[in-house]
Amino acid sequence: MDLTQNECVNNGDCDNNSDFSKRSDKPRHLNMERQRSFDERSLVEASPRYTTSWAENGQRHIDLDSVFSPSKRSSFNTPRGQYGYEAHPMFAEAWESLRKTMVYFRGQPVGTIAALDNSDEKQNYDQVFVRDFIPSGLAFLMNGEPEIVKNFLLKTLRLQSWEKKIDRFQLGEGVMPASFKVLHDPVRNTETLMADFGETAIGRVAPVDSGFWWIILLRAYTKSTGDTLLAERPECQNGIRLVLALCLSEGFDTFPTLLCADGCSMIDRRMGVYGYPIEIQALFFMALRCALVLLKQDDQGKELVDRIVKRLHALSFHMRSYFWLDLKQLNDIYRYKTEEYSHTAVNKFNVIPDSLPEWVFDFMPTYGGYFLGNVGPSNMDFRWFCLGNCIAILSSLATPEQSLAIMDLIESRWEELVGDMPVKVCYPAIESHDWRIITGCDPKNTRWSYHNGGSWPVLLWLLTAACIKVGRPQIARRAIEVAELRLAKDGWPEYYDGKSGRYVGKQARKHQTWSVAGYLVAKMMLEDPSHLGMISLEEDKQMKPMVKRSSSWTF
Ligand code: GLC
Repeated sequence: MDLTQNECVNNGDCDNNSDFSKRSDKPRHLNMERQRSFDERSLVEASPRYTTSWAENGQRHIDLDSVFSPSKRSSFNTPRGQYGYEAHPMFAEAWESLRKTMVYFRGQPVGTIAALDNSDEKQNYDQVFVRDFIPSGLAFLMNGEPEIVKNFLLKTLRLQSWEKKIDRFQLGEGVMPASFKVLHDPVRNTETLMADFGETAIGRVAPVDSGFWWIILLRAYTKSTGDTLLAERPECQNGIRLVLALCLSEGFDTFPTLLCADGCSMIDRRMGVYGYPIEIQALFFMALRCALVLLKQDDQGKELVDRIVKRLHALSFHMRSYFWLDLKQLNDIYRYKTEEYSHTAVNKFNVIPDSLPEWVFDFMPTYGGYFLGNVGPSNMDFRWFCLGNCIAILSSLATPEQSLAIMDLIESRWEELVGDMPVKVCYPAIESHDWRIITGCDPKNTRWSYHNGGSWPVLLWLLTAACIKVGRPQIARRAIEVAELRLAKDGWPEYYDGKSGRYVGKQARKHQTWSVAGYLVAKMMLEDPSHLGMISLEEDKQMKPMVKRSSSWTF
């Protein structure tokens, strides 16, 4: 279905924007005053907890809010690490690979393709995926090369304004593409863009995560470069408003969480995550917090800011109360009464204790906890999902105590979650009858493969960022060492299979860009934790919940 492509051709030039001809602000021209004022607009001040926890751990003392010193970055092909991180041969190799994936549109770098391995033509790995570009973008920002990120943000913003249709149904205005591709016409010597908003994707599902990642990357760009002018442009402000209009609209909802179809995020196939998946809720929360910093407080902005603040309060309360699971909470659910009516109900969603899966009793450590995969009416998905839990830490959706508990769980369940290749996208796999019913017999998502309990090297950057934020960088260092044993030798696969991730994935692409970029970001952050500020938000003290729920969650 090349509707969007034709539209582009018919429109003549979907992207003749003059903005691109302007050179992006180079870090060395940065106005430090602007950087500071951007910081001051952040919702909260840096938490003093940080300094303490770093010191207690005997780590380098770091003030996380003095997060960026972009002018110190190098623009060399292989960055000069201040701390010698380029010493590992994989690091240089990874930079070389990443550069090969760069996509140009009319002479400007606008993104990176999903994988250099295009052996299967039917697949769409030759496209620039919005979610896949995030670690690439962060790597470039950390290396003092913001131009590709700026171009990417503006290009995808232009794509957002296209008319999007599936059959006769028009999609919401704010939907951002899952991916795009540059088409070269060698005869006419022209370049046009083609985008996919879900209308060509397997399952025909729109990517709910794209818009959130776009806002998060815009904030990372602004934080890293100090260039607030990009976010202040009317088209960027409008882009943010359109994304938020999709999720802040009133409807039949009784929960502040966002109702989603299966396959609307990184797990883009049917995997039983429809409803209120943690990945989307955590990204939603983070995007709302980033938008709060980025939105101008003009007449239009003010009303939206009010709505965002209200939603953030309701969302954090809901997530921290109902999605959180630790030993105490698990025991409470195990003993739940059912069929409780009225406001006094303890088991609000009428979860039947018999629906508790056997594995969760062994999986739950004495100290530790995590955010559940999904919570809805008579439905708790007890699976652990890596991305949602890491984003919960980075966005401070998780309280500091919950963040520590998530780290405790990762340490206690190292074999299960990291094993021979970091990190499991979710745990455990679904098998047999459950697999047939839940995935619809998906041959790609068989047990311990791909999205169904597969191990994804890209998640290394998220794990590393979360570890640094919680003050436990040694966990990330261990995970990176595990990855370094095989990742490059195996040709940077997209994912690994098996209970402990020992096998290169059945249908995994090789030279998968986000496996490469995820490794680079993890390494750079570990060596220079000040990079964390791009992708992390401090706790908002006002959002502390009133209730105390369990021993591992104290105030
Ligand atoms: C697969 C993944 C998806 C990713 C895409 C491109 O479809 O499931 O998350 O964005 O490949 O790498």
